[in-house]
Amino acid sequence: MFTLQQQTPARLHHLHVVSDDPARLAEFYCRQLDLEQLPGEGPTLVLAGPERAMTISPSGQHVEPHYGYALSHGDALERLRANLSTHNVRCTMLDDPLFECGAFLIADPQGRRLVFGLPVQAHAGKGVPARLQHTVFQTTELDRVVRFYVEKVGFTVSDEVVDDDGTVMTVFMRSDDEHHTLAFFRGSGNEWDHHCYETSEWNDIRDWGDRFAAAQVPIFFGPGRHGPGNNLFFMVTDPDGNRLEFSAELQHVDARTPPGVWPHAERTLNSWGRAWVRT
Ligand SMILES: [Fe+2]
Repeated sequence: MFTLQQQTPARLHHLHVVSDDPARLAEFYCRQLDLEQLPGEGPTLVLAGPERAMTISPSGQHVEPHYGYALSHGDALERLRANLSTHNVRCTMLDDPLFECGAFLIADPQGRRLVFGLPVQAHAGKGVPARLQHTVFQTTELDRVVRFYVEKVGFTVSDEVVDDDGTVMTVFMRSDDEHHTLAFFRGSGNEWDHHCYETSEWNDIRDWGDRFAAAQVPIFFGPGRHGPGNNLFFMVTDPDGNRLEFSAELQHVDARTPPGVWPHAERTLNSWGRAWVRT
């Protein structure tokens, strides 16, 4: 069976967000996450930093968000495209300033958009370690979207959270050796849940916490340790209300490891204490 992890490892490389106030959002990410705004024309702002990047488009221009996953070389990108074609997943060429020519976009059954491509030259800027690592969504159709990402795209389920009735509530999926690069929570809506930056170690979490404290950006969840993935974490929000997570010690998972099952309980989301349980 084709899997991203084994055949064409992919990692989250950048976000494309849509904002009512792109300048305010860009200012936040430049100040708090050491991103720099790159020169460019047009309404979309391009921000890049050490192992993290994003583009920001103004709302009201019929532009949708997307999530850019990077492959390591052109052969892998073509192999992925061929596999998607086998599964009748439509690949649309896309001009993305953070990917080389040849990047393509797919849409999941609910219209979420992932872009696969090869990164343009890495940004050489300095900053506290925090590599853009995963993105998470809430969904009203958990089974349907997970089936799409596993059976058609090639993600692998690392862990599931299951309630007392046997209903799957959360699914963590990987596209390389890291525990999850994409996850879905069952919810009453289809909002973007959060995105996450993986740091080098626990002391980086301290430094990021101090940086947000100095800017009077309060932590709303954590610090703690997740059950699935076993990572240390905390979460804050940006000026648009998007949630950012900072993580350390995220587990690596061998390709042959079967999916784990966790109870739907606060201690699964945070073994240290109280948790934000999605509804
Ligand atoms: Fe996360």
